[in-house]
Amino acid sequence: MELTSTLDNVVIKEAKDEDVLQIYLIEKENFKFHWSRDFILFNIRLSDKIKKFYVCKIYNNVIGYVVCWLSNDTAHILNISVKKEYQNKGIGSRLLLYLFNELIPLNIKIVILEVRVSNYKAISFYKKFGFNEVETKKKFYPDGEDALLMIKNL
Ligand SMILES: CC(C)(COP(=O)(O)OP(=O)(O)OC[C@H]1O[C@@H](n2cnc3c(N)ncnc32)[C@H](O)[C@@H]1OP(=O)(O)O)[C@@H](O)C(=O)NCCC(=O)NCCS
Repeated sequence: MELTSTLDNVVIKEAKDEDVLQIYLIEKENFKFHWSRDFILFNIRLSDKIKKFYVCKIYNNVIGYVVCWLSNDTAHILNISVKKEYQNKGIGSRLLLYLFNELIPLNIKIVILEVRVSNYKAISFYKKFGFNEVETKKKFYPDGEDALLMIKNL
């Protein structure tokens, strides 16, 4: 798959405690019901055996991140988000491909996620990477919006 990113100096690393504030600012920018700093830190500090949390950085500034929890052969993506000014430059794609590459050696076979039914951009993004819609979860979000459950076989 061709990636559209033309950004140099972009690196993807495991999220660390020091990244919390920058992740939180991107959360606030992108989501009405966003994660708290404590919940971000909780996820960073979860054992690496049960989660993967990666940040994409440019000149040591976080511009995107992806988090998933692992259970048996399944990875559940809880969050993927790119700073607005860096969206549509291939950063989300890089994060997702990086995550898949880390999951394959762990024998993860299935990747699942929920996405708001109104989030056309993210739905199209996930479909591009082979996710299929399998179910609508009624009133999944705190404001009552439905979620699409999407699944991809790795
Ligand atoms: C969804 C998100 C992570 C994608 O990251 P990104 O870096 O912008 O995505 P990329 O540049 O790698 O890929 C762009 C793809 O997104 C989709 N996309 C982007 N803009 C779109 C639009 N206006 N309409 C439909 N699809 C769109 C397309 O599939 C596009 O691929 P294409 O360029 O080949 O058509 C990012 O937009 C984001 O952070 N959104 C806000 C947070 C969010 O909604 N997260 C998902 C929660 S479930």
